Amino acid sequence: MRTTMHHPGTPLHLLHLDSSARPGRGGIEPHGSWSRRLSHAFASRWRAARPHDRYTYRDLALQPPQPMPGNWVQAAFTPPAQRSVQLQAALTESDQLVAELRAADVLVVGLPMYNYGMPAALKAWADLVVRIGETFAITRTDGVTSYQPLLSDRPRRALLVTSRGAMGFGAGGDYAALNHADTALRAVLEFIGFTDIETVAAEGEETGGAVFEAAVAKALEQVERLAVRWSGAEQPAIAMHAA
Ligand SMILES: Cc1cc2nc3c(=O)[nH]c(=O)nc-3n(C[C@H](O)[C@H](O)[C@H](O)COP(=O)(O)O)c2cc1C
Repeated sequence: MRTTMHHPGTPLHLLHLDSSARPGRGGIEPHGSWSRRLSHAFASRWRAARPHDRYTYRDLALQPPQPMPGNWVQAAFTPPAQRSVQLQAALTESDQLVAELRAADVLVVGLPMYNYGMPAALKAWADLVVRIGETFAITRTDGVTSYQPLLSDRPRRALLVTSRGAMGFGAGGDYAALNHADTALRAVLEFIGFTDIETVAAEGEETGGAVFEAAVAKALEQVERLAVRWSGAEQPAIAMHAA
């Protein structure tokens, strides 16, 4: 894992995505979302530490990206200069989401587990940002295909904050093999060049009570610690010993 410290004086760009269908934040608004609570905790700590950074917020549940249109793949694989107006139009939303992601140094994603996977709107986002010639490349040598990430031009970090109704979906857990949510998004981000990806989970939302309260408290603490470490607010000497 790359652990490059961002210099506090260099402006960075934080991209913040949420994808829970529930609009409010858990524990703050009634029936709120815990993944939103965690992603906002990270973003507000980051922004307090680095008020001069750029910040972009996108609510994928409120404004879901279109599912991939029928001519999208053809459009993406057609060289830009040869694209018809229709093919260009098929890529408009993808162009915007790719540009937003390319501009980001740090990404925080609020990601609820829905039916063992990520919400459909977040999957639609992922399908639109993995773009040939934009975020990854393909080369063929002696008939063998290999893939190159194109967002590996500079250090990029991602924090995936997730909430799950049940328990045991984390690494080493009884149901780890059934987790196709944060693990799938991690694979996608690694594929396009993110090098430093962390996941923080609060499990047991459906159990609730003290069990989930403790899980949220621990997750909030982990998120805060990462925000301090990544924002460079912590002294490097201390960061070297941080978990
Ligand atoms: C449509 C739907 C599907 C869900 N599927 C799962 C699941 O597969 N596994 C699980 O542990 N929890 C599941 N849950 C529970 C959510 O993961 C849990 O409520 C979580 O807190 C949702 O995130 P949020 O609080 O950010 O909205 C599901 C909830 C919904 C609404």
